[in-house]
Amino acid sequence: MNRTKRATLGGRLSAVLVAAGSAIGLGNIWRFPYVAGEHGGGAFLLLYLLSILLVGMPVMLAEFALGRSTQRNSVGAFGRYGAKWKAIGYLGLLTSFAILGFYFVVSGWTLGYLVRALGGTLQHDHTAAEYTALFTEFIRHPWQPLLYTALFVGMTHVVISLGVQRGIERTSKILMPLLFIVLIALAIHSLQMPRAAEGVRFLFEPDFSKVTGRTLLIALGQAFFSLSIGMGSMITYASYFRPETNLRHTAAGVTGLSALVAILAGIVIFPAVFSVGLEPEAGPSLVFVTLPGIFNDLPWSGLWSSIFFVLLVVAALTSTISLHEALTAYVHEEWHTSRRNSARIVSAATLLLAALASLSTGPNDALQLFGVSLFDALDFLSANILLPLGGLLTCLFAGWVLDRTTFDEQLSNHGTLRYRIRRLMRFLLRWFCPALLLLVFLDSLGLL
Ligand code: PFF
Repeated sequence: MNRTKRATLGGRLSAVLVAAGSAIGLGNIWRFPYVAGEHGGGAFLLLYLLSILLVGMPVMLAEFALGRSTQRNSVGAFGRYGAKWKAIGYLGLLTSFAILGFYFVVSGWTLGYLVRALGGTLQHDHTAAEYTALFTEFIRHPWQPLLYTALFVGMTHVVISLGVQRGIERTSKILMPLLFIVLIALAIHSLQMPRAAEGVRFLFEPDFSKVTGRTLLIALGQAFFSLSIGMGSMITYASYFRPETNLRHTAAGVTGLSALVAILAGIVIFPAVFSVGLEPEAGPSLVFVTLPGIFNDLPWSGLWSSIFFVLLVVAALTSTISLHEALTAYVHEEWHTSRRNSARIVSAATLLLAALASLSTGPNDALQLFGVSLFDALDFLSANILLPLGGLLTCLFAGWVLDRTTFDEQLSNHGTLRYRIRRLMRFLLRWFCPALLLLVFLDSLGLL
């Protein structure tokens, strides 16, 4: 592969924005509230924040360093250090595939809700029970969720086919900041709802009696998921970064923004959950049954809900793009087929998996894996097993195999930037993160 021919992303701001575009998505706005709701709220938030700081950041830096130094897709990047290390890259591809399998389905739901918001039908129902019924009816519909899932795969395919630079950069640049502003406005509104204080307490007051080793595993999984790490997407993205991009600032920016969006989503959702008498443990439906009620309270509710769902669709799209890109870059560079063809192969394969996952949540509940629907199995497997495992292997690789000079050169831009956290990073990657991840794994397998 000719290095000079690879696309590069824009300046420093763009590197933060595209990586944040990948990181910020349904993981923050849909998954974080539902998982936090199931695992005790405040204590979970604390574990999640510690996870992104102590494990997420080092792993992200390792992925950035590996991607930019090798200028390859994730399999190619690990492969530079010997064929056996490619296995970590392959694990990442499997993870991307599994994530896309259910992520496209939820993205399809957001598209379905956008259409309802635009058509004004989201404003017809009024009680929490009615919104729950609306959601259940929608996901059980014989063809609608399938159609929206397919549309979302199509949209992702189009952006990927337009090329790395044009497609991804432009979308992220304009709409991510807007999402932020709308979330802040909604958070202010939620805080004024009756019984809002209960929701705030639920989110911010840690109740450690609910914390087990498993909670830590789920918090770590959510951290990996929301930062898009542990599976090679950030390696692929970093391979397009410019030489002068400051990797540490980029990682800190992405991590900070992602955490902020998750917290904001929590402030939007939990006060409303308590206010309308829903259960925080409602699971994957939580956001979809809570949000329409919030909008209904607002003046011009149709407009608010339409704007919000447009932004959510875009946030989901910038994330599906990065997952798709990791797979497409691999097929393109390692199978030596054209980019267009690679994109087609990836879109067809993920569409098939996502269609099965979509059917498994409603019309065809026989589609099960490990005793739960294919949708739930893909969600659980990828976030709580594959990503932490990928993260563990990435830490071990970065700490013990990746040569120290390359890592330091990448983090200091060949000595042109001051870089004081060298020792800390090395300790975290070599010892702390692998040990923690291993302990958490053993504990959740019941071996401790
Ligand atoms: N980080 C994305 C989110 O929080 O929605 C999901 C994701 C995107 C995970 C890309 C992994 C990935 F490679």
